[in-house]
Amino acid sequence: MIETQILVDLDERSYPVVVGNALFAKIGTIARGLPSTRGRKAALVTDSNVAPLHAATVTASLEQAGYEVHLIVVPAGEASKSMEEVTRVCRELHRAGLDRGSFVAALGGGVVGDLAGFCAAIFNRGIPFLQIPTTIVSLVDSSVGGKTGVNLAEGKNLLGAFHQPAAVIGDIDALKTLPKRAYREGFAEIIKHGAIRDRGMLDDLSRFRDSLEGIDALIVRNVGIKAAIVKEDERETTGTRALLNFGHTIGHGIESAASGELLHGEAISLGIKAALGLSVAKAGLPRAEADQVIDLLRDFELPLRLDARFSVDQILVKLERDKKFVDGAIRFVLLRALGDAFVSKDVTRDDIAREVHHLFDV
Ligand code: GLY
Repeated sequence: MIETQILVDLDERSYPVVVGNALFAKIGTIARGLPSTRGRKAALVTDSNVAPLHAATVTASLEQAGYEVHLIVVPAGEASKSMEEVTRVCRELHRAGLDRGSFVAALGGGVVGDLAGFCAAIFNRGIPFLQIPTTIVSLVDSSVGGKTGVNLAEGKNLLGAFHQPAAVIGDIDALKTLPKRAYREGFAEIIKHGAIRDRGMLDDLSRFRDSLEGIDALIVRNVGIKAAIVKEDERETTGTRALLNFGHTIGHGIESAASGELLHGEAISLGIKAALGLSVAKAGLPRAEADQVIDLLRDFELPLRLDARFSVDQILVKLERDKKFVDGAIRFVLLRALGDAFVSKDVTRDDIAREVHHLFDV
């Protein structure tokens, strides 16, 4: 593919998202060309799955560009999104002698990006960072937009900061090494983008189930959706960015209740199904349009049913602690039609409980 750049247009915090092939070997050159990453030292934060695959290439590229690189590897998995890991990584940054002229490079999926980005946001009151996403979820969603943070036992992403990266560098070749399950979970976020903003994208999405042919254009299309929404509402204050939470209110409750057994996109698949049910009931979404989305989730072998390991109450408890509640009321993203999303204040706890119940139906 020809390298594509999408600008996330945020005045003085603007940055490029570069999407293309063989980019890991160019990271050093790209970093040298950015105004905020020209210092001497860099920390490359990655996880135990990604490190053996890509850390050497990225490190070599940074070293060739004259950076002194300190590698920090965290355990793979959502459990690393914790304050304990933040403390450990920040202490390593300090011991390695990073200062305000240094930067952090986050190489991995959403967990690494959120964790390393949060460390960059708070270390020395904030140093620059690069997002180097290696999964579909992180390429199309979490690496773009500056949300960083970690979980508390009480709920997901309850601690965090907005800290925009200096650049996002997405090497499509990384997708070739993704396990099937990790590849497919990413489509929950792509399907979400289609449902809220780009219904045309949903039409021939299934062809990506087993083929990477044309995936570059699909990634660019999704980054464009995300960048446009972030430009409109960087800090989620007007309601536009909140549309990206479609499927995430119930989805995050399920993800917390699953304690690591479900990948993010798998929990979001269940959350999207429930949000579609609520959209049919409360916002007039035609049933056929809801079914089109559910069929796509099924095509990517994403879960659509909860089993007896879960209970409605357990999910509701997790969900009520979600930060999407304001003064005890939930702002819930619904669809009037595919591509036409809005934030509703009319969804009650009982409505949510009913949809969560339906997720247990056979
Ligand atoms: N992943 C949702 C957002 O970035 O706002």
